[in-house]
Amino acid sequence: MTIKTAVLNGVATIEIARPEKKNALTVAMYAAMADALTAAQADPAVRAVLITGQPGIFTSGNDIEDFMQRRGEFEKSPAFDFMRALLGCDKPVIAAVTGAAIGIGTTILLHCDFVYVSDEARLAMPFVGLGLVPEFASSLVVPQLMGNVRAAEKLLLGDPFTAAEAVECGIANAVLPAAEVMGHARRIAERFNALPPGAVQQSKRLLRRARSAAVLETIAIEGKQFAERLRSPEATEAFTAFFEKRAPDFSKF
Ligand code: COA
Repeated sequence: MTIKTAVLNGVATIEIARPEKKNALTVAMYAAMADALTAAQADPAVRAVLITGQPGIFTSGNDIEDFMQRRGEFEKSPAFDFMRALLGCDKPVIAAVTGAAIGIGTTILLHCDFVYVSDEARLAMPFVGLGLVPEFASSLVVPQLMGNVRAAEKLLLGDPFTAAEAVECGIANAVLPAAEVMGHARRIAERFNALPPGAVQQSKRLLRRARSAAVLETIAIEGKQFAERLRSPEATEAFTAFFEKRAPDFSKF
């Protein structure tokens, strides 16, 4: 089982559990996460959603083999279904970032309401180095959060950054010792059991209202370009190099 779900004490938990592949996300895993979010949204017993990973790894991002095999269908992919469900979730979504969050692992955090990060975690959005472009509105939200010049470090160079920097630039709420991340995130999620759900959900929609049209427009533009980039020779070189465990060679492009 690569996605574990549970509902306990008002909190729907979505746990990414594929540690042997560093929690890389396959289409089946995105589909399971989309289903879990849709169920959480519909279940009145659920007051908040908690997304987490495994000790040392939140997720290494999209499964690169899936990227290679499903290049034509990106916009209709389960990854889009999952992100649509995340963006459409009216209930508070809390991320417990138990370790590295790479690629979509960081992008997911941009659309959560609360983010708690292990002090050992590194975040990174290495899309360009894979021959790709930013996704799911990261090209809009990241510069808004940290300014253009720092966004360029993260999105053009793909530089990794620490949990502390994620807090400083507003991607995360707090850095916690690795062993405390999950407990803290759960305590925050459970606080919604004592709050009126109608007011919480209406307020969440209001918090997102001003930006939502731009976010959706950006996702559509990025998605088209991302799908094209997945088919590019640059991406083929990057993906092949990853599985051959060598540095990619972009000198011929
Ligand atoms: N897609 C597919 N497989 C992945 C993967 C991914 N995103 N990330 C890791 N794996 C696989 C590796 O191929 C390896 O498989 P193997 O044991 O069959 O060789 C296994 O997971 C362990 O990964 P490994 O790289 O050996 O672990 P590590 O501890 O040295 O490094 C990471 C961990 C996360 C830093 C590294 O795996 C990594 O950089 N992954 C790719 C991240 C990425 O570019 N994601 C896409 C963003 S769009």
